[in-house]
Amino acid sequence: MKGIVLAGGSGTRLYPMTRAANKQLLPVYNKPMVYYPLTTLMLAGCRDILLVVNPQDVETYRRLFGDGSQWGLQISYAAQPKPGGIAEVFLIGRDFIGSDRVGLILGDNLFYGDSLPTMAERGATGTGATIYAYWVSDPSAYGVVGFDDDGRPNSIIEKPKVPASNWAVTGLYFYDADVCDVAARLPRSARGELEISDVNAHYLKAGRLTVEKLGRGYAWLDTGTPSSLLKAAQFVETVEDRQGLQIGSPEEVAWRRGYIDDAAFAGLIEPIKESEYGKYLQRLLARG
Ligand code: G1P
Repeated sequence: MKGIVLAGGSGTRLYPMTRAANKQLLPVYNKPMVYYPLTTLMLAGCRDILLVVNPQDVETYRRLFGDGSQWGLQISYAAQPKPGGIAEVFLIGRDFIGSDRVGLILGDNLFYGDSLPTMAERGATGTGATIYAYWVSDPSAYGVVGFDDDGRPNSIIEKPKVPASNWAVTGLYFYDADVCDVAARLPRSARGELEISDVNAHYLKAGRLTVEKLGRGYAWLDTGTPSSLLKAAQFVETVEDRQGLQIGSPEEVAWRRGYIDDAAFAGLIEPIKESEYGKYLQRLLARG
């Protein structure tokens, strides 16, 4: 099982916050945005992860994540020369994927919910393609799934003017290794991109697409505008403050899943023990 985090793009809607900093490095409350999708992939069981980022950001991300071994992961990096669409990651990551199943998550997508690990694991261990749909008030801003009278998915359209439903396609996807060939044969869309919705529509037509609906017990949050970024931060702050448990900590996930032992966990905490984050991890370790 391979995993890809796409953390490229120009983040134009967040300008000037994104003038010098890559969008997915901006904070969502107390962590870099990219921590949240990275831990979602970890919860799906992905440990071999490719970060696809803008060429000028490769070294910054390497500073953030290294080779991933500190968290029991294998993290590698690839550059997307210019924003050419989400599905381009399957051309960039072809050698990385090889003949394995692959999970893709967008670096600005924040998922939260009690059954997130099992939900994501189902996609990771499934066949064909698995995507996740979430009921939103403004589906036109997203890829949208339409359903027939029996509840079977029958259309996927990118940013439709007249949406077939309120079910938006979220930025978490799982595919078999065929996805590289599917993406390679796609024509570019009107905006000059390889659209992930075209990949999903291909799997739908082939009868090899599973659409999982994320129910109301989940949160799927957007970070695309200053207001939605603030709301995501407030959501994280609200839950973390109430529970004293954090969302999206790779150290915690690695330790709880047994990717690193107590000694390695303590080693990660030592240099950051003065920070709130370090103190939180210390409390976890002390509690055992
Ligand atoms: C992209 C996808 C869209 C999906 C969305 C999820 O949109 O093209 O299908 O619903 O991510 O975040 P974009 O971020 O390019 O607007």
